[in-house]
Amino acid sequence: MADASLPDLLRFYRDLGFTELRAPRIFAATQAAAASKPRPAANLRPAPLSPAAPAMRHEPASVWNYQPSKDIIQAGTGDGERVPEQILLKIQQDMGECTRCVLHQGRTKIVFGNGNPSAKLVFVGEGPGSDEDAQGLPFVGRAGQLLTQMINNTATGEGISIQRDDVYICNVVKCRPPGNRAPEPEEMKTCGQFLDRQLDAIRPRAICVLGGTAAKYLLDTSVGITKLRGEWQDWHGIPVMPTFHPSFLLRAYNKEGKRQTWEDLKKVLHYVYD
Ligand code: URA
Repeated sequence: MADASLPDLLRFYRDLGFTELRAPRIFAATQAAAASKPRPAANLRPAPLSPAAPAMRHEPASVWNYQPSKDIIQAGTGDGERVPEQILLKIQQDMGECTRCVLHQGRTKIVFGNGNPSAKLVFVGEGPGSDEDAQGLPFVGRAGQLLTQMINNTATGEGISIQRDDVYICNVVKCRPPGNRAPEPEEMKTCGQFLDRQLDAIRPRAICVLGGTAAKYLLDTSVGITKLRGEWQDWHGIPVMPTFHPSFLLRAYNKEGKRQTWEDLKKVLHYVYD
């Protein structure tokens, strides 16, 4: 990105959902001087992606003893037909007004997940923040708005006709951890059973896991997100693309992280929708 032309850079930020670019005050003078210098243009387009099944870098976690849950049969029409919408409703009913872990004590609303029950792509985050807790919907705060723009703009920019409503979005834990702390492993295990069932019900073509905490649960790994991101993994036979959490992208001075997330998103969108 260091050698990118201005139009490439602007497209990069637009696709990531940034609508306003402001130089930090202390760097403004240096950047204005640098901007006046001619820069070599660079072709930033990645190599064409293969439509073949993605190669995995890490061994899949607990994949081979996987059995589809009984809900898939029970909540269907009785003849084994899969009806994801009904299965999701059944999972939500089973969750009820959950008190299975301490996180219920501080919640306003359970954030079960939303989007297209038959989505080809599912995004999985860590857990609700305060806006999500208030509204009962995933990714509706600042990080959520960035995620929405990233999905919509990257899809549009890549000529893929989907928007946020076409995917499904949920979290590992469904109640807001106090002070937005990371959920504890035990909390993820307790609540994760519902995530497992959601993914099982939808059976998307791919899952995009957002951030290290969600990746740790879903991929049963201690490998950090910086190493995991950008390489296909596996959850019960479904390809998983780990990438950075949008909250991380909202922090200043991680331009490389933003570029990497954009590349990851393009990879997953092309794999699912081409
Ligand atoms: N961060 C998450 O991980 N999930 C949300 O729903 C919102 C913010």
